[in-house]
Amino acid sequence: MFEALQPRPNDAIMELMQKCKADEREHKIDLGVGVYKDASGQTVILKSVKLAEEMWGREETTKTYVGTTGNQDYCADMLALMLGADHPAISEGRIGASQTAGGSGALRLGAELLKVVAPEATVWASTPTWANHIPLISEAGLRMGSYPYYNRETLGVDFEDMLDYLDKNAKRGDIVLLHGCCHNPTGADLSPEEWDRLAPFMLERGLFPYIDLAYFGLGRGMAEDTYGLRKMIEVHPEVLLAASCSKNFALYRERTGLIAAITKSAEKAQIAQSQFGAIQRKLISMPPDHGAAIVTRILRDENLRGIWESELDDMRERMRGLRQLLSEALDVQGGEAMSRAVKDQNGMFSTLPLSPAQAERLRSEHAIYMMNSGRMNIAGANASNIPRLAEAILDVL
Ligand code: LMR
Repeated sequence: MFEALQPRPNDAIMELMQKCKADEREHKIDLGVGVYKDASGQTVILKSVKLAEEMWGREETTKTYVGTTGNQDYCADMLALMLGADHPAISEGRIGASQTAGGSGALRLGAELLKVVAPEATVWASTPTWANHIPLISEAGLRMGSYPYYNRETLGVDFEDMLDYLDKNAKRGDIVLLHGCCHNPTGADLSPEEWDRLAPFMLERGLFPYIDLAYFGLGRGMAEDTYGLRKMIEVHPEVLLAASCSKNFALYRERTGLIAAITKSAEKAQIAQSQFGAIQRKLISMPPDHGAAIVTRILRDENLRGIWESELDDMRERMRGLRQLLSEALDVQGGEAMSRAVKDQNGMFSTLPLSPAQAERLRSEHAIYMMNSGRMNIAGANASNIPRLAEAILDVL
């Protein structure tokens, strides 16, 4: 059976994670995989999560199945968190949702639903986008295309090019995949004004928004990071949303995600939800319980919620502080564009204008691990190694 089987390479992010783990140099700096690290380089379990787990451990009464669309309290709480509890789409029951196995499970479930309703549509993704977007969505059987997004010279968003390209290339009924905030891999987000323009632009051209919200709360703040999502829902009668609790609740391995279809009516929402359940059933049967149970516990308990909000603020502000420090350290001749970009960008990532050879030199000569694309996760740095990081970046340029 397995005679002809050939090994397959890991994806670049996973491969870099392994390379860094194997490097025994004590001064190594891991700016690879997108996990938050504290000042001592640890990815700790949040206190709010630990407390919720202790309570949940005492209160949990069963391990029976959660059902194909998972924990619906969790879905409701997550939607209220992102949209605001009094959002009309919530009060009108126009959202069909399912708990998923992480944000990746959500993206796949969403793609499978799109394959049912729009099998001929193209899903347009930004250039660049998160590497796993392409296999997750295209292997659901959907065609994918790319629109211009990040300019590797200005290190900002080429918004006019993006609009122009979509105008000329996307057809009515096509889908545009958008990073709701903290763009992965570039950290370069659309401004509120750009969301304000993009939403009606897409509506006029019959382009459907599929929003990936994996880092909300870690960019500028909850309201700011969900602005684009809420703008799209305000303008478009239908939106697809894939969200994750991996980063903002630091629940990475608990695989805690959400897929939600914002529809035109409560009836359609129920239909979309039944589709999510049926599709999830054939893919993985049902999502795991633990992460969603913990998130619900936190969001429903005033004390835990307060602790979580302040932990989220701390993570975000630490990253903003590191951005500021790195920006100052790069603000020398040759580093000006990077200095500006690193300060202005959001979330864990920035993509520096480095070649794969330069990224390799950072690894071999400086024990600094970032993606060959130049993507770095700022949370992997700390105040004391930032001067060395900046020097090394400027050295390999
Ligand atoms: C990343 O982009 O590094 C994270 O989202 C982790 C992953 O699964 O790729």
